[in-house]
Amino acid sequence: MSLLRKKSVQGMLEFARTSHGLRKELSAFDLTMLGIGAIIGTGIFVLTGTGATVAGPGLVLSFIIGAMACGFAALCYAEFAAMLPISGSTYTYAYVTLGELVAWIIGWDLMLEYLLASSAVSVGWSGYFQSLLAGFGLHLPDALTAAAGARPGVETVFNLPAFVVALLITTLLAFGIRESKRVNNFVVFIKVAVVVLFIAVAVWHVKPVNWSPALPYGMSGVFHGAAIVFFSFLGFDAVTCAAEEVKNPEKDIPRGVIWSLAICSLLYVVVSAIMTGIVPYMDFKGIDHPVSLALQVAKLDWFAGFVDLGAILGMLTVILVMTYGQTRILFAMSRDGLLPKLFSEVHPKYGTPYKATWLIGTLIALIAGFVPLGTLAELVNIGTLAAFSLIAAAIIILRRREPDLPRKFHCPAVPVVPALAIVFCVFLMTQLSALTWLCFVVWLLIGLVVYFGYSRKRSHLHKA
Ligand code: ALA
Repeated sequence: MSLLRKKSVQGMLEFARTSHGLRKELSAFDLTMLGIGAIIGTGIFVLTGTGATVAGPGLVLSFIIGAMACGFAALCYAEFAAMLPISGSTYTYAYVTLGELVAWIIGWDLMLEYLLASSAVSVGWSGYFQSLLAGFGLHLPDALTAAAGARPGVETVFNLPAFVVALLITTLLAFGIRESKRVNNFVVFIKVAVVVLFIAVAVWHVKPVNWSPALPYGMSGVFHGAAIVFFSFLGFDAVTCAAEEVKNPEKDIPRGVIWSLAICSLLYVVVSAIMTGIVPYMDFKGIDHPVSLALQVAKLDWFAGFVDLGAILGMLTVILVMTYGQTRILFAMSRDGLLPKLFSEVHPKYGTPYKATWLIGTLIALIAGFVPLGTLAELVNIGTLAAFSLIAAAIIILRRREPDLPRKFHCPAVPVVPALAIVFCVFLMTQLSALTWLCFVVWLLIGLVVYFGYSRKRSHLHKA
């Protein structure tokens, strides 16, 4: 039975109220910016090209399906986040509903999301950065341009720019959320401006003939595309990781989650329609800068360089927020005794979990340096989809078990909306490759070994 031991909601709230730790600095506006900062990145700037080659102009539908899956999940997140504004996001919600073991599994799952997404986006950033350098005639030695084997026919060893950018972001985070917030808000402004300008400038160059055939690979292409571009929506959930640093969490977190996702979904659907309307979908094959390709095809080269710059800046905040989310989840797990104490030690001056930040940042940088992008994105998706499904299930369970808990935000039409979230997420998981599934299962098994070997006995609930 101890596997199912749970924390009480009241106890958690009391703990959060009385514990001194992280500084409260963030508003609903900051949270929306934090969300957009984490959402718009490699997905729209890089993966739209991959998506278009498997879905054709049906990519628009892929984005709509991805947005629906995330939208249903976001409503569930919002209910939990408003009820339990406590660091640790999904992990914490599961601890009070589904018990310690499931909470552990979710926390472990989320490492696939946040940690690997930080690495993956660092690698995507490195590609854009190197192409910008090339524009000035500057080239790194081949060995330092990418992970070993990442560029067929080129002798590569280590992705130096990806490694360096991950460490720079880590340094920023270690010095405190307030400074990071300023940088984030500035960059989000620039990247949204770039995307909106892209829409305004490029829409006049759409040739509707490129939209037919609309579904060259049928609905299966659309679904496959959705499983890929799902990556582009991730990040809205990172908003909930900031719960303990928010001034007015019950209202502001649901707003931050829903607004950031809604704004980005709208932008994505429009951008993908324009892109596939300008470039014949076959021409996206092997292209890692599809947005600027669309501009080149439309003979808007002057603007393409601007978009590249926006992408480079924009991806920085994705790395920032994802790394941030990872440290806050580890913070919560460590505070519960499931991970060593060093993950929840807060710096006396900066008010940040600095040891966790440095440790995780270094790990993210090393993975970014040595592992190619390819399978990283799929692994991120499978881990996240699993966590979303579990959280939706938890909403249904908690509504039954504790119907009277004060809920400042109600997910609408329970159990229909959470059930839809589960159906969409599980379906998208089935669209991912067998290799991804294998890695996912191995990762979970490692997690179980750590849990039974270390965490279970050290859990504060166990001691209590
Ligand atoms: N949604 C984030 C991106 O697309 C992870 O980069």
